Amino acid sequence: MEKFNYSDQIVTIDDRHEVIIPGGRIETIAFCIAQFIRLASHCIHQRGYFAVALSGGSTPEEIFRGLSGEINRYKVDWERVILFWSDERSVPPDAKESNYRMAMDAGFSTLPIPEDNIFRMKAEEEPERNAKLYEKLINEKLSGAPLDFVMLGVGQDGHTASLFPKTHALHTSEDRLVVENFVPKIDTWRMTMTYTCINAARNVAIYALGAGKAEILEKVLSQPFDPDTYPIQGVGTPENKALFIVDEDAAVRLKKSSGFPHSNA
Ligand code: 6PG
Repeated sequence: MEKFNYSDQIVTIDDRHEVIIPGGRIETIAFCIAQFIRLASHCIHQRGYFAVALSGGSTPEEIFRGLSGEINRYKVDWERVILFWSDERSVPPDAKESNYRMAMDAGFSTLPIPEDNIFRMKAEEEPERNAKLYEKLINEKLSGAPLDFVMLGVGQDGHTASLFPKTHALHTSEDRLVVENFVPKIDTWRMTMTYTCINAARNVAIYALGAGKAEILEKVLSQPFDPDTYPIQGVGTPENKALFIVDEDAAVRLKKSSGFPHSNA
């Protein structure tokens, strides 16, 4: 994780995970927006571009709205932003379940991101072939460099991106960046970035907001390492920890004794 002036607010939980609790929902979304803007500026200044993988879910949607609204849209040099997705549902881009469509509808379609820099996952057909093409595309566009930022959520069953408990995508070979994944629980195909791809990224944020996330958050941060049961546990490495960004409602069951400080972005 690139270090910024909030690094003293971060609590290390284990050798792969850190947590920050910026405050209630509003403060936490504001923190996430500010983090995106800071990372984009930093990466564009350092390397000339900002390659980010977006995710689906309700929190990213709020962040996307905030980023593309009047207050924040001029704070990012969008012409230098390259958009990928961390996962996608097996639906066409105009379907309301599409993660691509969600980002566009939440305001990204109004930003001056060059069309040639927007790479949606084509998960609605030939998922195996299109997953291979997507990983080739990432390598080509970034010349083998890692993504700058991966934005993730966590489901109540511990899934992240479309890495669901006990599914095949959790066990693919180390060289795969993107794979198709059948999810029996919801009887559908998904396309998803793998641990290899996510854990190579320069920065990884996991958003956990709202009371509905309190139970799973407590489990994944306190239970022994078992990513087959809790896939989110496999995100983050000892060399490059993943940052959970948690609001007060989601944090209620985290051990009070851990002494989590609060911060503003
Ligand atoms: C998706 C996501 C998925 C999501 C979690 C959390 O395609 O749905 O990528 O992994 O991030 O399910 O979603 P919420 O933030 O809506 O709870």
